[in-house]
Amino acid sequence: MNHALFGSVAALAQPLTLAGLALRNRIAMAPMTRERAPEGVPTNEMADYYARRAEGGVALIVTEGAAPNEEGRFGRNVPRLYGADALAGWGRVVRRVHEGGAKIFAQIWHVGAFTPSMVGMEDTLAFERLSPSGLAAPGRAYGRGMTASEIARTIDDYARAARAARDVGFDGIEIHAAHGYLPDQFFWAETNHRQDGYGGDLPQRSRFAVEIATACKAMAGDDFPVMFRLSQWKQHDYSARVADSPEQLADWLTPLVRAGVDGFHVSTRRFWEPAFPGYELSPAAWVRRLTGKPVIAVGSVMLNTDFKAHDGKLHGTLIPESLQRVSDGIEQGEFDMIALGRALLANPNLAHCVLSGDVAGLRDYDRSFLDSLI
Ligand SMILES: Cc1cc2nc3c(=O)[nH]c(=O)nc-3n(C[C@H](O)[C@H](O)[C@H](O)COP(=O)(O)O)c2cc1C
Repeated sequence: MNHALFGSVAALAQPLTLAGLALRNRIAMAPMTRERAPEGVPTNEMADYYARRAEGGVALIVTEGAAPNEEGRFGRNVPRLYGADALAGWGRVVRRVHEGGAKIFAQIWHVGAFTPSMVGMEDTLAFERLSPSGLAAPGRAYGRGMTASEIARTIDDYARAARAARDVGFDGIEIHAAHGYLPDQFFWAETNHRQDGYGGDLPQRSRFAVEIATACKAMAGDDFPVMFRLSQWKQHDYSARVADSPEQLADWLTPLVRAGVDGFHVSTRRFWEPAFPGYELSPAAWVRRLTGKPVIAVGSVMLNTDFKAHDGKLHGTLIPESLQRVSDGIEQGEFDMIALGRALLANPNLAHCVLSGDVAGLRDYDRSFLDSLI
């Protein structure tokens, strides 16, 4: 243990109020798909897995992505956020997390045209996949473009999922609008060629997400927190960009703020890197500056490899000293909270260890940790 290193991470221990919700510190668990919910029903094993992170001291858990409807599912073992069986399973997860002292947001994840086939796996759900323009990626046709009534029904499905989340006790929701999935397929001009008011310039391409936010607020209640997870990068293209400048980022996000979005979870592969050439600010810092909303930053926190490393590295060495940069970011108002993915998979008790300065027992991340729900 080296207290000298951790004397200055006090910012991480500060409580935070996010959309009226009291969080005990600044450490969140990032959403991570585990595909361990048979036919979409969360299990007691999943409840144990999330409870371990809550008991381990995180303030907020964002669940793995859960589907709002049938055709939004990535695969059979991704949890659903609809249907009595799945909702009962989530109720058990929520109770255990609350007993552990943490808050929990359900992440709502609709894949659109981005199906397992995009990552070389079979699309075992034989639905016709829906997206803005029938494109999973530029030049890669899959499924078909949505009709206006399918857009309306899908938005309604998000809103119902938000309401269901509230009813089973979740503290809020996070709309997964990042990484090339459905809302991001609308955001990105390369996958959105619509000419009906859901496509066009950035504010028009934001319209689908805006209507989701509005509908979720209307159905789940204005006081029920709605976060948005955004990224420039796509699962299939790390250099992709929705916004090329701070002005475009403002065009993208301002309509979402007006719709009542309570905060943003800015997904990057390395949280400290600048967002735009010629400026030093990170994407999270830009989003916070432009929206005035609470922001969660994420990406390679405490780790020396990013989770989509091109060289195929499966191991991440834990670097506790790097938390200094996180603490400075909070102190300097770049972001309000930090989310960790792989470091928390490896170390359920990470938050307690970090906040007490006792990091000697923390272990590196290894991909083999994905083989079971440890
Ligand atoms: C196994 C795994 C599953 C993931 N699933 C999701 C997901 O369901 N939704 C999402 O928004 N991000 C997902 N991500 C991305 C993480 O939330 C996070 O942004 C990423 O791992 C970077 O954080 P890290 O460097 O601390 O691991 C996943 C990451 C991993 C490693």
